[in-house]
Amino acid sequence: MKPAEMYSLQGKVAMVAGGGGGIGSKLAAGLCEAGAEIAIVDRSGSLLKSTCSLVEELGKEPLSIAADLTNAEEAEAAVAQTVARFGSLDIIVNAIGGGAGKVLFEAQDYPMDAWQWIMDLNLTTTLVATQAAVKAMIAGGKGGKVLNISSVRGQLGINAGYSAYVAAKGAVSSLTRQWATEWAKYGITVNAIAPTFVDTPQVAMLLDDPDFKAGLISRVPLGRVGTPEDLMGAVLMFCSGASQFITGQILTIDGGLTATQ
Ligand SMILES: NC(=O)c1ccc[n+]([C@@H]2O[C@H](COP(=O)([O-])OP(=O)(O)OC[C@H]3O[C@@H](n4cnc5c(N)ncnc54)[C@H](OP(=O)(O)O)[C@@H]3O)[C@@H](O)[C@H]2O)c1
Repeated sequence: MKPAEMYSLQGKVAMVAGGGGGIGSKLAAGLCEAGAEIAIVDRSGSLLKSTCSLVEELGKEPLSIAADLTNAEEAEAAVAQTVARFGSLDIIVNAIGGGAGKVLFEAQDYPMDAWQWIMDLNLTTTLVATQAAVKAMIAGGKGGKVLNISSVRGQLGINAGYSAYVAAKGAVSSLTRQWATEWAKYGITVNAIAPTFVDTPQVAMLLDDPDFKAGLISRVPLGRVGTPEDLMGAVLMFCSGASQFITGQILTIDGGLTATQ
């Protein structure tokens, strides 16, 4: 493969789970710009609409699917719709998750309902969507790419009530390595990105607090908060031929934050 063609997604079909979200919407548009046909899956109709507009502005016709990706039947139906429309599924990006700041409790008192909610949101969706997508990739016989979104919290603790989120993201990172070993025989690579704070609506309330933002920036060697666009280079690498011998890796994208730990 020529270096200039390595990052092209021409002829590929990608599904973005959580494609209506702050990060997923930008990644969906970026994958399209790189040439992919795109299926956007999210449970929220209005968010789906706005991501579709972003993609349509790029001259592509996205497939928009409203589904709850904690539900295996809905995930399999979304994958079947994608294959029916585009002929295959080559890439899945798992961009559902978060919620960490909404359920902060001391570890010894962490309530089971909050634990289950965070696990479903971050871990079950990743498992269920990937199982459905990978079955289609195996059936297609052309290999594939799985890209998970973990977090720096998948590897670092923080004294701020994050028990469920660190457990869920740690599991997403572990599954990334596990799946890489199991699916290599099918030509499927599995990698993850692990960002720190990314400027999206989900963390807007925190970043709107000037003291919190200043404290965060002071700990980031590159001196600013990340943006969804900062994730695109790594996502493109992991979803394209540029990463054909890279699997089971978790790439931290944090402006150098974890390098200081
Ligand atoms: N933003 C950050 O600072 C940051 C940092 C590190 C890692 N991450 C990770 O990056 C990923 C994306 O984060 P984000 O900030 O883009 O979050 P987001 O804006 O909340 O996007 C997630 C999207 O997934 C949807 N969703 C939730 N549960 C679903 C389900 N069961 N089925 C289908 N769709 C569902 C959400 O819909 P609803 O709105 O209806 O819930 C939302 O549209 C998450 O895994 C997060 O943990 C984010």
